[in-house]
Parts: sequence; structure tokens; C-alpha cells
Amino acid sequence: MIELPFYHSFAGKVPAVSTLLAEALIRIAPEGMSRALFANSGSEANDTAVKLAWYVNNALGRPEKKKIVSRQRAYHGMTAAAASLTGLAFAQTDFDLPIARFLHTDCPHYYRGALPGESEEAYAARLAGNLEQLILREGPDTIAAFFAEPVMGAGGVIVPPATYFDRVQPILRKHEILFVVDEVICGFGRTGNMFGSQTFDLKPDIMTLAKALSAGYLPISANLVKGSVYDILVAQSDKLGIFGHGYTYSSHPVPAAVALETLKIYEERDIVGMVRRVGPRLQAAIRGHADHPLVGDARGIGLIGAVELVRDKATKQSFDPKAGVAAFLVRRAQHYGTILRNMPGDIVAFSPPLVITEAEIDEMMGSFARALDDTWAMVKERGLA
Ligand SMILES: Cc1ncc(COP(=O)(O)O)c(C=O)c1O
Repeated sequence: MIELPFYHSFAGKVPAVSTLLAEALIRIAPEGMSRALFANSGSEANDTAVKLAWYVNNALGRPEKKKIVSRQRAYHGMTAAAASLTGLAFAQTDFDLPIARFLHTDCPHYYRGALPGESEEAYAARLAGNLEQLILREGPDTIAAFFAEPVMGAGGVIVPPATYFDRVQPILRKHEILFVVDEVICGFGRTGNMFGSQTFDLKPDIMTLAKALSAGYLPISANLVKGSVYDILVAQSDKLGIFGHGYTYSSHPVPAAVALETLKIYEERDIVGMVRRVGPRLQAAIRGHADHPLVGDARGIGLIGAVELVRDKATKQSFDPKAGVAAFLVRRAQHYGTILRNMPGDIVAFSPPLVITEAEIDEMMGSFARALDDTWAMVKERGLA
């Protein structure tokens, strides 16, 4: 801030620190990522990714290849394009969203979506088949991009079933559909690798980063793009005379400096190694509740997880949302000293700070266990189950 409190990134100049940040990101990014564009939030970065997909296809002389596919229950943000990507009713109802040309395919939620007796692999194959059918129905030459979070966050912490992305990615490649990976939650260690793309062997064309990019301390987000995508952007902007995209605060030097320092600290403290060491403790604790009468599903990876509460374990029947069962649990957990988050569908999510210790995980899960028992007592008392 003392060195350079502000400079914009238009007209061919960027603050030096933004260049250093871009280089630092490319060094740790999955193979093939070659350039970074900056913005101020995850939503803006996803908006940018949508615009890039459209721009690329115009540059390639494919003006019809513009539809964008994301997934039901996805969360990609709240700006007009990002909320159109988001597959949750509350983000769209009465906002006249999604805007035209945004389509949604299946949410890969094995617990809810699989047929009786269907294996994870068979379920993943069925969903990949549905995606391809959607593409063929719409016309492959009308689909520009597919957006996905490696692990779906706000939609309920949904870990993809085995082989899901292995089956989806060849379909995208076959139909020349850009793969945009939203790493806003998974990026920077959350799943036990630097990026969720590494955990699930994803080969993105464009990535979206935010949140932990600056440890959340200052607003900054980024898109990383593959070299082949960058070359198209440059050629087209040379033709047009300008790359007509950017925000006043894109690569603002102060959040860029904070992000750069954040990345250094992640490396110095081996944040990914820390997640790998303590993650199994969290996952074991979450799954340790799988037999509880209220718990339908207990899932997660690395330092993210959830339990899904149900009225009836055998039929997976949910509670009446009006009963507010998970909300009750979260209030009780707070009473015991831990702030948890409940999500629609009576899902209680865990996403602790990446520096959490095993003792703190035990404390957090201890609060949860007591809150779960209180909730069970409440459910029985009110005759809800
Ligand atoms: C996966 C994902 N993408 C995008 C966003 C939007 O980011 P922001 O709230 O910074 O606009 C979020 C926010 O929670 C998110 O979880």
C-alpha cells in the first residue's frame, strides 16, 4: 500500500506485483495454464469466464457456439451470468434468471440421485450419458462451455462419484466444449491438493480462483487460462484493436500483494501438507456419525465435508423444510462453541480453516456430536421422525 496504493490495468500497464502474482499462480497451477486475468470476486471471475467462452467462439468464427452448461445445485456466484450458472432456485427466482443460453445438467449427488443398487461408476456413466444427450439435443455446435466445481460447495458439499469427471471430460473434448473449472472453494488446498483439479485429474481450459487466493483477507479473484485459449484472445483483440474487458480494480496492487504473500505463506507452512495430515481426522469424525438415526449421508474430502439429515434412513425421506431441523442443530452447535453452516436439504457443512489442528477438529466435531444428539431428542419429542 505504501509502495503503490492504486494503479489500474488498462492501456498496457499493470502493477508489477500483479505480474508477480500471475507468475506465482501459473507456477502452482495444473499443467497447461499459462496466463492470469484478475477480478474482485468469484462471481466476476465466472462472469469473465462466460465472456471469454463467447469471445473465443466469435474469434473462431463459431457465432452459434454460445450456450453454457452447468449443473443443478451448482453455486457459481450472484452476478447476472454467474447466478445463471448457479443451479439453485433462490439465486434465480424473481430475478428473471437464468438468462438465455444457460442450461443445467444433472447434479452428481450419488446419495440422492443413484438408482437402487446402482454403483458409483454406473451412476457416473448414466450422468455422463445424460450430459452427452443434452449436448446432442441442443447441437454440439451450439455449446461453448461446461462449468463445474470439483466438489460442489454451497449446493450441499457434493463430492463427485468415482469416475464422474473421467467420463465427462472426453465428451467435452469430443464436442470442443471449453471446460471451466470453478476452484473458488476447492482452490489452495481444500481437497488435499493445491487445486481440486489435481484431486480429480481435471484438465481445465479456464479456471476460476477467489476466496483462499488471498486467504479471504482482501477481495481478489482470478481466471487462469490455457495457452491455446490465450492465443485466441490475443489474436482477436489484435484484430479488434483492444481487449475490451477489465474492471477498475482488476489486479489492484494491494490485494495482489496480499495474495502474493498468501501464496508464499501457503508454501512456507506447507498448507497442502497440513490439509493432508489433518483431513483424515475430519473425514473419520464425519463418517463416524453415519450410523446415527438422523444421518442419511456423511461425506467429504480433505477439509470439506457434510452430513445430510433425514427423517427416515431407509427411504432417505427428508424432513419438512419448515421444521428447520438442521437449523436447530446449527444453533445447538453454536451453543457448544462451534459455528457450522446449514444448507437447504438439512445438510450441515464443515469447512474449517486450513490451519485447523487435530485437537481443534476434535473440539469442532465434539460440538457437532452433542448438537446432533440434542437434535435427535428434539425430533423425537416433537414427533418429527
Ligand atoms: C464455487 C463458488 N464459485 C463462485 C462463488 C462466488 O464468489 P463471490 O461470492 O466471491 O462472488 C462462490 C462463493 O461462495 C463459490 O462457492
